[in-house]
Amino acid sequence: MNPEVVTIGLGYIGLPTSALIASHGTNVLGVDINQKVVDTINQGKIHIVEPDLDKIVSEAVLKGNLKAATKASTAEVYLIVVPTPFKGNHEPDISFVEAATKSIIPLLKKGDLYIIESTSPIGTTEKMQKLIYALRPELEGDIHIAYCPERVLPGNVMHELVHNDRVIGGVDEGFYSKSNLVLQ
Ligand SMILES: NC(=O)c1ccc[n+]([C@@H]2O[C@H](COP(=O)([O-])OP(=O)(O)OC[C@H]3O[C@@H](n4cnc5c(N)ncnc54)[C@H](O)[C@@H]3O)[C@@H](O)[C@H]2O)c1
Repeated sequence: MNPEVVTIGLGYIGLPTSALIASHGTNVLGVDINQKVVDTINQGKIHIVEPDLDKIVSEAVLKGNLKAATKASTAEVYLIVVPTPFKGNHEPDISFVEAATKSIIPLLKKGDLYIIESTSPIGTTEKMQKLIYALRPELEGDIHIAYCPERVLPGNVMHELVHNDRVIGGVDEGFYSKSNLVLQ
């Protein structure tokens, strides 16, 4: 499969988001560090409890639009959907977002879209922008980098993903047309 979209993190938010995009005929590769999660999804099954998710995942996997793996491959759009837990003193730990970002930096090419979906502290998107361009200086200004804040809650995600507005804030002006590709 040649994925158009790669999702890093296949939990309560990443899997429904991946499945919904795949159900529109877009090829999605979902990536998770947990091999059991990857194996379950590739069997067309789900590892979390979420109403209506099982059918949409099994259909997308059967049609070949959704696949899971432990490693990312080249795509056009990258969604970062890993946890941002709290450290000792209620300090947000963005190391998961950083690790997920580092895993896709070697794959980036001119014109790609990178969106953080993890609920992260203010400034995280700019930090990741700096990290991306520090490791790939030749791409500076040519990657569309954005943040999409929380708009769904586990328990009714499939309904909310479709019916709640999606707000995406870009760090540059060029990301808008590219993000339409994911949503249509
Ligand atoms: N955008 C939204 O609408 C929205 C809504 C609710 C929550 N969130 C946020 O989304 C993030 C994910 O939440 P969740 O409930 O899906 O978490 P989750 O714990 O259910 O799933 C996270 C998954 O990421 C995987 N993972 C961790 N590090 C990884 C890495 N480096 N590479 C690949 N996979 C990795 C884990 O194995 C796990 O399966 C959180 O920050 C949460 O606050 C966003």
